[in-house]
Amino acid sequence: MSHLPPPDRPATTIPLLQQWARDSRRLVMTTAYDAVTARLADPIVDMILVGDSVGNVCLGFDNTLPVSMAMMNHHLEAVARTRPRALLVADMPYLSYHLSPEETLRNAGGFLQRGAAAVKLEGGAKRLAIVRALIDCEIPVMGHLGLTPQSVHAMGGFKVQGRGTHDAVQILEDAHRLQEAGCFALVLEGIPSELAAKITQTLSIPTIGIGAGPHCSGQVLVLHDVLGLTQGHRPKFVRTYVDGFDLLQQALSHWAEDVRRSVFPSAAESYSLPAASQKAVCTWVKPQSGDQSEAR
Ligand code: KIV
Repeated sequence: MSHLPPPDRPATTIPLLQQWARDSRRLVMTTAYDAVTARLADPIVDMILVGDSVGNVCLGFDNTLPVSMAMMNHHLEAVARTRPRALLVADMPYLSYHLSPEETLRNAGGFLQRGAAAVKLEGGAKRLAIVRALIDCEIPVMGHLGLTPQSVHAMGGFKVQGRGTHDAVQILEDAHRLQEAGCFALVLEGIPSELAAKITQTLSIPTIGIGAGPHCSGQVLVLHDVLGLTQGHRPKFVRTYVDGFDLLQQALSHWAEDVRRSVFPSAAESYSLPAASQKAVCTWVKPQSGDQSEAR
C-alpha cells in the first residue's frame, strides 16, 4: 500500500488546517528550499516552510541573520514553481519586518505574489502592530515564539526558553496576544513541553512544535535534519530517519570509482551515429595546412 496521498488531493488551506487541528489530526510541516526538496516533501506533509534556516542548512552561514529578502525570494520561487499542494509558508528574514510597516508589507506581499500562502515571523508583544498590519493587507501570519533563532545574540546562544517563571508566563501571554492579533498558527520552538501543552490547550489556533514536546497540534523539523543531510551538532529534539549524507556520498563515490575504472558510461548509456555518418566520421582525416578546403 502506498504511503502517499493521491496526487490530486485538494490543496491545503488555512481553514482546512485549523479544522484538522480541531479534529485532533496532528499537523506536519517541514522545510524546503528548492524544487527537489519541495517535490520530496509535498506528497508527505501538510505545510512546507521556506525557512530562513536555508542560511545555515544550505548556504553555509553560522546562523540565520545574514539571510536576505533576495535569498528568500530566490528559494521561495524555486519551491513555488513545483506548485505544492501543501500550504506554502515563507519565513520573513532578519530585518525584513523590523524597519517600517511599508517595507514589511512590500516584503511579505512579495512573498504572496511569488506563491506563498502565508508568512512566518519571530517574536511576541513587539510584533503585534506589524502582525495586525499584515493581516489587514490579507497576508496570513504564522507566529514563532520561544527559541527564536534571529534573537541568537540576545538569547546568548541557541538555548531553551521559558524555563523561568517570568519567561514562561511571558511566552504564554505572547501566544495569546498573537492569536488575538490574528495569527492563524504559531510555531513554538525550544520551550519545555508543559509550557507548550498549556499554550496549545488554551489557544484556539494550532501550535506547531519544534523542540517543544509532544503536546502541540503538530510538529515541524528541518527536512535536512530528518534525512540526515546536516553535518555537525544536531539538537536533541531532532530525530534523524536515515543517514542521508553517508548514503548519498557512498552512491557518489561508486560513480566516481566507475569513471576511474572506465566502466562508466556503458554502451547503453551512450549515443551512436547512424551508419552513413559513422562512415564519414571514421574516414575523416585532418586537412594538411595550405590545403584549399581549409582556406575556404
Ligand atoms: O527557518 C526554519 O526552518 C524555521 C523552523 C525551524 C520552524 O523557522
